[in-house]
Amino acid sequence: MTLIPELTILQPADKEQIDLPRTSEEELAIGKKRLYIESYGCQMNFADSEVVAAVMRNAGYATTSSATEADVIFLNTCAIRDNAEQKVRHRLKHIVGLKRLKPELMVGILGCMAERLKTKLLEEEKVVDIVAGPDAYRDIPKLVEEAGSGQKAVNVFLSREETYADISPIRLNSNGVTAFVSIMRGCDNMCSFCVVPFTRGRERSRDPHSIVREAQDLFDQGYREVTLLGQNVDSYKWVVGSEEQGVADAEPSPRSSLPAPTTNFANLLEQVAQIHPDLRIRFSTSHPKDITDDVLHTMARYDNICNYIHLPAQSGNSRILKMMNRTYDRPWYISKIDRIREILGEDCGISTDVISGFCTETEEEHQESLSLMDYVRYDYAYMFAYSERPGTLAAKKYADDIPEDIKNRRLTEIIARQRGHSAERNQRHIGQVQHVLIEGPSKRSDDFLCGRNDQNKMVVFPKGDHQKGQYVNVLVTECTSATLRGEVI
Ligand code: SAH
Ligand code: SF4
Ligand code: F3S
Repeated sequence: MTLIPELTILQPADKEQIDLPRTSEEELAIGKKRLYIESYGCQMNFADSEVVAAVMRNAGYATTSSATEADVIFLNTCAIRDNAEQKVRHRLKHIVGLKRLKPELMVGILGCMAERLKTKLLEEEKVVDIVAGPDAYRDIPKLVEEAGSGQKAVNVFLSREETYADISPIRLNSNGVTAFVSIMRGCDNMCSFCVVPFTRGRERSRDPHSIVREAQDLFDQGYREVTLLGQNVDSYKWVVGSEEQGVADAEPSPRSSLPAPTTNFANLLEQVAQIHPDLRIRFSTSHPKDITDDVLHTMARYDNICNYIHLPAQSGNSRILKMMNRTYDRPWYISKIDRIREILGEDCGISTDVISGFCTETEEEHQESLSLMDYVRYDYAYMFAYSERPGTLAAKKYADDIPEDIKNRRLTEIIARQRGHSAERNQRHIGQVQHVLIEGPSKRSDDFLCGRNDQNKMVVFPKGDHQKGQYVNVLVTECTSATLRGEVI
């Protein structure tokens, strides 16, 4: 999924400096115990925090946007790269200070770092009372209770069934216009560099009815965009009858000789798109080995499915891709890009993830990542230096042998190349009219509004008498590599 790796973390410092107005949720909270939750890592983790907030609300907790007011602090953590974990450890140092002032404060580590480190976290970080992995969130009130009686509380059990399908998430830090909806959990892919299969467990899909219901509820509440989330959305699969076991790939019922009807990702996209033409659909992440023509044709058929695909390449070199266990090579990836352009046109937004300095990567192989970028001309990219993760296939099989300075130099080259491509792709929009869903005031000035176009690009324009949640047509007049600017017409 678009993993918004560490980049989009809500910076705790900002949250404390800004005196946020109380939400109605917080107004209702007078007299209740308060939960403060901070999310790191990918969109999925942000979506999970909303499930945790719902579970905690049922246990009598209200959310607060102030860590100092909280009775319970949860950090929903990421383990994807070492620096993601370091960030959490650094944050815990600050929380030690809060606990000194308020000894009854309870501190929980949730998410992928909790799953990776398990009880080790309790030994290493004395301030932590609760450790809960991604499949243990229903158990959190019990863990809080246990911790309240002075014990350390841990649940890192990974499930084959849990999808939290029946839990209505409480939207946190929401703009009231765009929301995430998880459609599956876990990952079965085993890319050699990646810790996710170990931290999130086996892949399982969520009942499509509960997904459509959640998206419909969001639309009824005024939301106008949903992003369907999974580590590999193209392998979404729900077989009718599997509800009994809760497992998506269950055998068809022996009572029936007909094959059980299956919902694949293209079918699911269509069902969500049919909720209302004013509800925009995005999704993330697509895996190059699994994205189908069926999905691309479904996107082409529905105007409200955004013309944007996040298709992480990771590397442009076939030998490295093989070592990464991505199960496709450079020609395969290029053929997928060509297919996207054929079916959805040159304007379809495409983004990627690229890793620099994977084990044994030569200069020539690094050049192939750059030349792949030149071929595709991505609209956007998330770019990382390889960070070895304990326990992964790569950590077991290969030496992390590219020196940090070389990884970083290659990363700088990748970033510079992408900046050029982003600027070039944004310039294509100058003079075009873009359909924009308004998300709220622009970051820099309240006199301007901002929202995204179909291709997920931020567009900024004078406020006029427009409001968030509305669609407007904006004539683009200028751009940077990050933003488009224009006027509503
Ligand atoms: N499921 C998604 C991505 C999940 S992780 C997919 O298959 O594309 C998000 C991104 O983090 C990955 O695409 C990869 O580029 C990066 N990443 C994962 N593990 C990493 C590691 N060990 N070092 C550096 N980057 C990593
Ligand atoms: Fe990690 Fe690969 Fe799964 Fe993505 S598809 S989460 S990179 S193992
Ligand atoms: Fe997401 Fe980080 Fe876990 S990217 S799945 S929170 S390791």
